[in-house]
Amino acid sequence: MIDEQLSLFGVAADPVPAPQPTAAQYQQIPLNPDVAIAPGTYADLAALATHCLACQRCGLCENRTHVVISRGNPQADLMIIGEGPGQQEDEQGKPFVGKSGQLLEKILASVQFDTEKDIYIANVVKCRPPGNRDPLPAEVNACRPYLLEQIRLVDPKIILFTGATAYKALTGGKQGITKIRGQWLEWGGRHCMPILHPAYLLRNPSREKGKPKWLMWQDIQAIRTKYDQLRGAA
Ligand code: URA
Repeated sequence: MIDEQLSLFGVAADPVPAPQPTAAQYQQIPLNPDVAIAPGTYADLAALATHCLACQRCGLCENRTHVVISRGNPQADLMIIGEGPGQQEDEQGKPFVGKSGQLLEKILASVQFDTEKDIYIANVVKCRPPGNRDPLPAEVNACRPYLLEQIRLVDPKIILFTGATAYKALTGGKQGITKIRGQWLEWGGRHCMPILHPAYLLRNPSREKGKPKWLMWQDIQAIRTKYDQLRGAA
């Protein structure tokens, strides 16, 4: 299982044996979710992944098929943060591969973003909440240190908070997502934008002016412009 999962984010699984967590590494994972994983704990994403695959910091570990860590390019300048894995993601071990993910791909492709090349995708929680419920605050707190380490190691210029859970989990912001979406925020020294979650767009498919899909089209164009500016391409 660990071999198979490591290969999902570009760490060779075969013929090089996957790094197995050593007894000492297991002991380094604070099982008490109130104990933070300090910034700088992981030298690289492979070390982080090794820990995530063995994680038992919250009850979500009990029913997972896969720990869903990331997909895309770990050197990307644009990072997308979702809420947590759904059924497809849990089965495949990759974020945003179900219906929401397919819509997200279309939105990104509409402004010529290539997910594998331009984007790194992760979630607030790495294990599927039962029945796709929102992750509980304790689960978010348990998993947040991994995400903060992913952000530090990937070092993106832009972060998109996809939906209210991602926006609140990272910034602590209290505003509703429909109020705050489309606004650039400075968080952690980075350019960040909360955007509507694709699952919300699937439930609200109208493209009429002012409706969620139209708003997303405005936002993704603004994101493309900022991305090009920051990369000096505009
Ligand atoms: N929704 C999310 O927020 N993340 C996923 O990975 C899939 C659906």
